Amino acid sequence: MATENFPKTKEALSIKGSQSTVVTLKVVKNIGIITIDYAPVNALSQAVRTGLVLAVESLETNDDVKVIIIRCQGKTFIAGADIKEFGKPATEPYLPDVVNTIEACRKPVIASLFGTTLGGGFEVALACHYRIALSTAKVGMPEVNLGLIPGAGGTQRLMRILGPEQALEMITSGRHISVTKFSGSNLFDFIVEDKVVENKLAASELPQSELPESELDKQSKIFALQLIRENNLTPCRVGEMSVNSQDFDWQAAKFNIIKKARGKQAPVVAFDVLEQTQKMNINDGMAYEREKFLQLRASEQSAALIHAFAAEKQAAKLSSKAQPIDVINVGIIGGGNMGSGIATCFLAAHFNVQLIEQSNEALEAGLARIRNNFASNVKRGRMSQSASDICLAKLTASIDYQSLSHCDLVLEAVFENIDVKKELFKKVVSVCKAETVLATNTSYLDIDEIAASISRPEQLVGMHFFSPANIMKLLEIVKADKTSEQVIATAMQVGKKLKKVSVLVGVCFGFAGNRMYTRYGREVQQMLLEGAKVEQIDNAMTNWGMAMGPLAVQDMSGIDIGHSARSAQPFPAHDKGYFKAAATMVEANRLGRKTQAGFYQYDENGKNHHAAEVETLLFEEAQQLGIKQRTFSDEDIVQRALFALICEGFALLKAGIVQRMSDIDVIWLHGYGFPRYKGGPMFQARQMGKAQVEQKLAELREEFGDEIWPVVNVDLLG
Ligand code: 3HC
Repeated sequence: MATENFPKTKEALSIKGSQSTVVTLKVVKNIGIITIDYAPVNALSQAVRTGLVLAVESLETNDDVKVIIIRCQGKTFIAGADIKEFGKPATEPYLPDVVNTIEACRKPVIASLFGTTLGGGFEVALACHYRIALSTAKVGMPEVNLGLIPGAGGTQRLMRILGPEQALEMITSGRHISVTKFSGSNLFDFIVEDKVVENKLAASELPQSELPESELDKQSKIFALQLIRENNLTPCRVGEMSVNSQDFDWQAAKFNIIKKARGKQAPVVAFDVLEQTQKMNINDGMAYEREKFLQLRASEQSAALIHAFAAEKQAAKLSSKAQPIDVINVGIIGGGNMGSGIATCFLAAHFNVQLIEQSNEALEAGLARIRNNFASNVKRGRMSQSASDICLAKLTASIDYQSLSHCDLVLEAVFENIDVKKELFKKVVSVCKAETVLATNTSYLDIDEIAASISRPEQLVGMHFFSPANIMKLLEIVKADKTSEQVIATAMQVGKKLKKVSVLVGVCFGFAGNRMYTRYGREVQQMLLEGAKVEQIDNAMTNWGMAMGPLAVQDMSGIDIGHSARSAQPFPAHDKGYFKAAATMVEANRLGRKTQAGFYQYDENGKNHHAAEVETLLFEEAQQLGIKQRTFSDEDIVQRALFALICEGFALLKAGIVQRMSDIDVIWLHGYGFPRYKGGPMFQARQMGKAQVEQKLAELREEFGDEIWPVVNVDLLG
């Protein structure tokens, strides 16, 4: 919990030390220019906050200075508070004091925006008296994504400029919005066309002194000189404006926000702050906002969401220094649902794609699926028609493997049969360059075995996409025994270009995600046999936050699909109820939505209903197996399912299939609808602590035996 008191008087804000390397200033023609240079994203660390206050105060008292510009070096204007400081005791100067110092400045202050100006960075810009932005810049209040609300006047100043409706939309969605969307509003005083490719130049290796002045800097100075020439030097302070909320329907907005929040606290708190403070002055409004911000910062949801952010960054990091090869041309073999979805991802990321199918008919069907995906993107407003045309122009297709000869990466997404895949890669190796990366999208098959059948095993890697591949963010990069570090680095870099969240995993049945999913499914099935009801299980899991109930998911994907995959594996003799509920459904031809009957009954509109027959079938099956019936509370159900994940997660860590606990969380957040505000199964384990996890696992082991609940090492919980 932070210890700050608010509001602070200006006198109390004494800052020790006047030297700052991250914030520098210079004076050019009566313009005081403050530059923040704190890689990677100019976050508002204590050093930056201190430097900013000192710089503004110094220029305010400098008689040569009439106007002040705040600008940034690097790839973006300030992207927010420094997330690395969260969880540590708050240090002065606090951000609200920094923004108030800027707004109170007696000389006009101009913010010069480019890149992504987010959160606290946007709050700094809102406190400035003028805002100039590059046309490619984006702004946003993404605090809700971290379980927070703006905590330095963002709710107050945004509501004053844009009105409550737009402010609420921005704050509760967390979206990054192009500044051009605000042309004509009071948010920006000038939007500068991006004539020079400024970001590329700024991000280059050149020392700052050798960089040509950017168009944004030039235009910001011209704007400042104009203010000086016109003697237009009275700062216009957003904080002094009042809120125009006359016609706004607060009740309707509240209803929508609660509905969309689906268990997240921060958007609801944001609503409360705007509603409660609409008539307050800026100081009282900011005090109320800060109080709520600090409460959220101490919340479990915020800890989970900040963990999720850090976990994603961590998952992208490799220990090896191997350099990826440059991938431009990609071959995709298989144009079915998966292959066409994957091809769509590559095309959308501007790779050249060569699609391969077995017959002209299959090729046409694959091409049609890809075109449909793009048409749907255009229809839903995700991309323009011209952008879609540009992507599709990079697609070629053939039934001849020879046309893969120029490819840097060849990825197969064909039928899940190991012999088919072995043959396929032999053909690919015979036509491709030695350095071509070979990737398989298999979900379960043994990649080591496929690698052993080809002459370049070191070039083979798993790239396991999740369905629908053009929508789902998760990508498991599967390292086989012989996969080279360069191939791993290449696959990870490709994943980044595809805007996927990539996680490195090792080879085992189902890799990390599906292996855990099987364990989760097993527990759900077992609970059905022990007497838990279908609806109760699904409701318990969705009320807890899962995107869908596990049984509704099975009905959707087809109960027979998993059943036939499991049937190819030896039946675990120690687990007499192993997926017997699913087997019972398959025997009764209740295959899910496709037969209008699965764990639920479906009407002609696709709506699900209780299926009395299922209850009877499951009860009879449990009787036959001698499984004792019991009653379950929702809490029991969630605990059993969650501990199944935790136990399997530790088993994966022990087997070296995943590198970090947090990688497991990333997989579950992006592949299986685990609620982001709960951080992931391993984050949940960490929150409970080692003693509680050990105790619960011991209880389950005692009740069900150590073959199902094996002893795992939970020392990582500290
Ligand atoms: N604080 C500290 N570090 C940050 C950061 C922040 N706010 N935002 C990003 N970084 C770091 C990342 O951790 C990463 O570090 P790494 O290289 O060591 O892994 C590095 O910057 C680059 O980040 P990305 O890989 O994400 O780079 P991208 O170019 O893809 O994206 C970005 C840049 C859009 C700024 C994205 O990082 C982002 O969305 N960051 C979060 C921004 C945010 O949430 N700001 C609000 C903070 S809360 C706040 O301001 C509260 C206030 O109201 C009081």
